[in-house]
Amino acid sequence: MRRGLFLSLEGIDGSGKSTQLRHLVARLEAEAIPHLINREPGGSAVGGEIRKLLLDPHHHISPTAELLLYFANRAQNVDEQIRPALEQGKLVLSDRYTDSTLAYQGAARGLGVQLVQQLHTIACRGTEPELTLYLRVRPATSEERMQQQSKDRLEAEGARFHARVYEAYEQLAAQYPGRIVTVDGERDEAVIADDIWRLVAARWQRRDS
Ligand code: TMP
Repeated sequence: MRRGLFLSLEGIDGSGKSTQLRHLVARLEAEAIPHLINREPGGSAVGGEIRKLLLDPHHHISPTAELLLYFANRAQNVDEQIRPALEQGKLVLSDRYTDSTLAYQGAARGLGVQLVQQLHTIACRGTEPELTLYLRVRPATSEERMQQQSKDRLEAEGARFHARVYEAYEQLAAQYPGRIVTVDGERDEAVIADDIWRLVAARWQRRDS
């Protein structure tokens, strides 16, 4: 059996990830490409419980506890969801993965890249995305988009926190140009969806050849 393909989708809050994920899933289904969508936080029964803990605005979670909870969620999903799906030859798309932890906990919370990388090694055991789609929107655009909705614990962090997350994503994209492809998220929804589909379909076909 052919090996699967592991992709991840990243971006700041309000980048339009959820909308683009819906478009992508519709295309994967139309093309009958076997796939698994992994979501972090969330993505499994245990992950769902961790997600509730992490995003509840009533909780005061210490930065280190927050970091470990994201990785506990990821370790569970790698073992229970991601690896088995890749072994079955599926396309696995993770809605957020360790780049999120590097940006939010490593950079914005100030816990540092090294600590995040160490935990990544333990939790993910070499399960790395081959391609990461970074949906880029400016913090001002994200702020505007999120103004109307009630905010979860991370979304409720201030503008400076979100600016740091944005800067970290920009740095990651510059640091890993072979893996991270930046997709301009400020354009028309359908144009972005076409772009993302082109990138994903090309990778999937290349794996077949
Ligand atoms: P979501 O809105 O994409 O579902 O993500 C929920 C929040 O969790 C979002 O504000 C980003 C944050 N997050 C981290 O802070 N670190 C992580 O490792 C992940 C996966 C998400």
